[in-house]
Amino acid sequence: MAAIADNAAAPLLRIRDLRKSFGSHEVLKGISLEVRAGEVVSIIGASGSGKSTFLRCINVMEMPNEGFFDFEDFAFDFRAGARNQPTPAQLRALRARIGMVFQSYNLWPHMTVLENVIEAPMRVKRLARAEAVAIAESLLERIGLADKRGAYPSRLSGGQQQRVAIARALAMKPRLMLFDEVTSALDPELVGEVLALMASLAQEGMTMLLVTHEIGFAREVSTRTVFFDQGRIAEDGLPRDVLYRPQSERLQQFLRRVLHEHVATSAAREAHP
Ligand SMILES: Nc1ncnc2c1ncn2[C@@H]1O[C@H](COP(=O)(O)OP(=O)(O)OP(=O)(O)O)[C@@H](O)[C@H]1O
Ligand SMILES: [Mg+2]
Repeated sequence: MAAIADNAAAPLLRIRDLRKSFGSHEVLKGISLEVRAGEVVSIIGASGSGKSTFLRCINVMEMPNEGFFDFEDFAFDFRAGARNQPTPAQLRALRARIGMVFQSYNLWPHMTVLENVIEAPMRVKRLARAEAVAIAESLLERIGLADKRGAYPSRLSGGQQQRVAIARALAMKPRLMLFDEVTSALDPELVGEVLALMASLAQEGMTMLLVTHEIGFAREVSTRTVFFDQGRIAEDGLPRDVLYRPQSERLQQFLRRVLHEHVATSAAREAHP
């Protein structure tokens, strides 16, 4: 219990005043967020509010213009000329500890399922092939796709490909997982299997940040919800408060729209099954 209490006390990820511009367009206008180990933070917000850019800044696929960043033993100051700007070696090490899964699964099409999952552990972590295969086999077992190990991604359904993409990220044994609308490109009947996998990860204590439009899923799985509005965090709290008792007019509008779209797609599905 003591270890859990310690974990709960110290944030795993601490971001302060993060800013990101593309040219003169400031997309992130000073984001501060602390995430403790085991927290599952859902991120909601309108298109263009900066959600994906924020996730990409966390694993520094996108270099922020300003901000302070602490993750495990990394401490960066992104301001130009700052002494502890990240070095290329630190960035590689950081990315190896943060898993990211996107809307488009991006599996390598010329590699089998198994090869997709063992590639990064072998290349980045320099694991021996047998060790990487053992990790991959247990992950494929877990996601129910052990029998697809020799298949190429094009032979899998979208839901299966997305589960493999999650397994591929997990094979690196990340300390933090970032999910960016991972079910948005899926046919409705395939959404459930991917959400179920994410829910089981959350239940096991994986620390996760997930951008989602699945309000019910966010309510069920996340421990916290933040609402992005025009490059700022406008609300941050318990899912049941943020999602069902929104304070700002902007969030109320956003939730009405998402709910409306959801009802509209469900109705369309029923009309044209
Ligand atoms: N590489 C880039 N170059 C220029 N502008 C960019 C780039 N990436 C994102 N942007 C701009 O930053 C803004 C935020 O984009 P972002 O993708 O983070 O939004 P989002 O909240 O994820 O939206 P969505 O819900 O549609 O995915 C948008 O105006 C977008 O056009
Ligand atoms: Mg996005």
